Amino acid sequence: MTRISAEIGKSPKKHQHIEYSQRSLFSPICFYSPKLPIFILVTCVTLFILLNIRFSLQTPPSFPTFSLPWTLMSQWQNAIFNSTITSTNYANELNSAYLYKLHQSVTFLPLKDLRYAHAALNGHTWFMSSMYDTHQEGDVHFQQFPSQSSQGRLLCLKGKDTHDGSWNSYALAWPEALPHNATFMKGLTFVSYNHYNYENLWHGLSAMVPFVAWHKNNNCSLPTRWVLYHWGELRFKMGLWVKTMMEATFGGPLNIEGFDEIDENMPACFEKAVVMRHNEGGMSRERRMEVYDLLRCNARIYCNVSLKDRSNEIGMTLFMRTGPRSFKNETIVTEIFYKECAKVEGCRLMVAHSNNLSFCEQVKLMSTTDILISPHGAQLTNLFLMDRNSSVMEFFPKGWLKLAGVGQYVFHWIASWSGMKHQGAWRDPNGDHCPYSEDDRRCMSTYKSATIGHNQTQFSQWASKVLAEVKARKMEQASIKGTTTRPIDCSCA
Ligand SMILES: *[C@@H]1O[C@H](CO)[C@@H](O)[C@H](O)[C@H]1NC(C)=O
Ligand SMILES: *[C@@H]1O[C@H](CO)[C@@H](O)[C@H](O)[C@H]1NC(C)=O
Ligand SMILES: *[C@@H]1O[C@H](CO)[C@@H](O)[C@H](O)[C@H]1NC(C)=O
Ligand SMILES: *[C@@H]1O[C@H](CO)[C@@H](O)[C@H](O)[C@H]1NC(C)=O
Ligand SMILES: *[C@@H]1O[C@H](CO)[C@@H](O)[C@H](O)[C@H]1NC(C)=O
Ligand SMILES: *[C@@H]1O[C@H](CO)[C@@H](O)[C@H](O)[C@H]1NC(C)=O
Ligand SMILES: *[C@@H]1O[C@H](CO)[C@@H](O)[C@H](O)[C@H]1NC(C)=O
Ligand SMILES: *[C@@H]1O[C@H](CO)[C@@H](O)[C@H](O)[C@H]1NC(C)=O
Repeated sequence: MTRISAEIGKSPKKHQHIEYSQRSLFSPICFYSPKLPIFILVTCVTLFILLNIRFSLQTPPSFPTFSLPWTLMSQWQNAIFNSTITSTNYANELNSAYLYKLHQSVTFLPLKDLRYAHAALNGHTWFMSSMYDTHQEGDVHFQQFPSQSSQGRLLCLKGKDTHDGSWNSYALAWPEALPHNATFMKGLTFVSYNHYNYENLWHGLSAMVPFVAWHKNNNCSLPTRWVLYHWGELRFKMGLWVKTMMEATFGGPLNIEGFDEIDENMPACFEKAVVMRHNEGGMSRERRMEVYDLLRCNARIYCNVSLKDRSNEIGMTLFMRTGPRSFKNETIVTEIFYKECAKVEGCRLMVAHSNNLSFCEQVKLMSTTDILISPHGAQLTNLFLMDRNSSVMEFFPKGWLKLAGVGQYVFHWIASWSGMKHQGAWRDPNGDHCPYSEDDRRCMSTYKSATIGHNQTQFSQWASKVLAEVKARKMEQASIKGTTTRPIDCSCA
């Protein structure tokens, strides 16, 4: 009888190290009453059946339930009444039948569930729609495999489609009963869902932030590989800025899985996997700030930024764009801010173009910036790399307020999430003529790529107000000795 418990708990050789969660449930009962084999058999099998029924009931609705318990039930009845079968023989038979059926029962579902296409961002999304996230108050939403909520099952992925996510699929499988021809991948795998893309600084970073939060919550655990999805379609690279940011955070080159050695019909199952599909969703402001602190800290170390006491200086940076949403006349805008900066002791104006700075040049620039002045655009994502409590001034072309939707506030959000002060936005009242009425959505194509003018009076007054605030904050900071020269600590504790 002890064979049953021992065998069920035993994995095939290549993943013996995986703890099988049911082992501990079986072992005590099975080991302690060796004199009553039939009674124990009944107890074990009944317990097993009950557990499976319970697990089946707990499985999310659209995940298929196993028919295994009922099949076993009849085998068990046969065994009880067939006195010629010894319990040991029976255990072997039961076990191999059980494993065979478990292998067969692994069912793959499409990664992208078209039933939720109209609400892909709501609720628990169209990506792995049968699965529920783990969520603790104020913390990141995630799924982890194997885990208690997966009943010890691993995540398996199949398919290499880069155009339609409904051709790629996922399944859960117990490590003892991986699907046929499965490749077992050791280590920790980060599986990312991104509704937008991995190239854009803002969208790429938003998809990465929850992994950094998980990493921080898990003693700085490092991923062995990344699997990137957009709408369930595989992606094999990130934009350079996003990639470098992650390399700085995770301390080395990213291994983005290409499944090169695996046929598209063959599954890959992961020793340990963490799935994120809700970006920062669910995280409290406090938790977000900790994550941005960690990102900033790692980026500065990676880029060899030297820390010095900056309490006597104010860095004012004009972060220019070229093309869409650039200033119509950079010279005059620079002049206006230069004049205001010159009026304040310790103020230094820096002018940079976002399109030709390397990642580390951006990190270094931000580490000496207290006031970031920039048009709306992905380059503003860099704002979290300034010291905490720094200021942001944002500029929009005409028409955005009415037509650009909620996305125009993303830099208000990231400023708040990373502990910065968004000092408001200037919206150009003038701009290109749109042939339709002002509120017509078709006008957005005119406004989206427009350039930004200036208002000397308004820019001067605004700059002077922000400078006064920053000056006051810096003086207060200088009076509290020690806060500015804290050593960099990027630990996860
Ligand atoms: C009982 O065991 C014998 C010998 O293994 C087998 O031939 C027979 O079919 C079994 N009967 C039942 C009801 O399982
Ligand atoms: C496993 O792979 C082999 C060889 O590639 C193939 O012939 C076989 O059909 C596969 N088995 C299943 C169940 O997919
Ligand atoms: C955290 O990681 C460190 C270094 O890898 C290790 O020494 C320590 O035991 C880990 N702590 C926990 C609680 O896992
Ligand atoms: C940081 O400094 C180290 C050692 O001086 C050097 O090897 C490395 O290339 C530097 N990194 C960057 C990004 O400048
Ligand atoms: C930009 O402003 C400067 C300074 O006022 C002015 O000399 C220059 O002509 C302007 N350039 C354009 C293209 O309007
Ligand atoms: C960066 O780009 C701006 C505008 O495209 C250009 O004026 C400037 O010279 C460039 N700087 C470098 C170092 O390439
Ligand atoms: C930021 O400002 C808040 C409120 O004024 C203050 O409590 C905090 O210490 C400041 N943080 C830093 C890093 O200066
Ligand atoms: C510039 O801003 C000032 C102050 O807000 C305002 O009174 C003035 O009308 C603006 N000028 C133009 C040309 O929009």
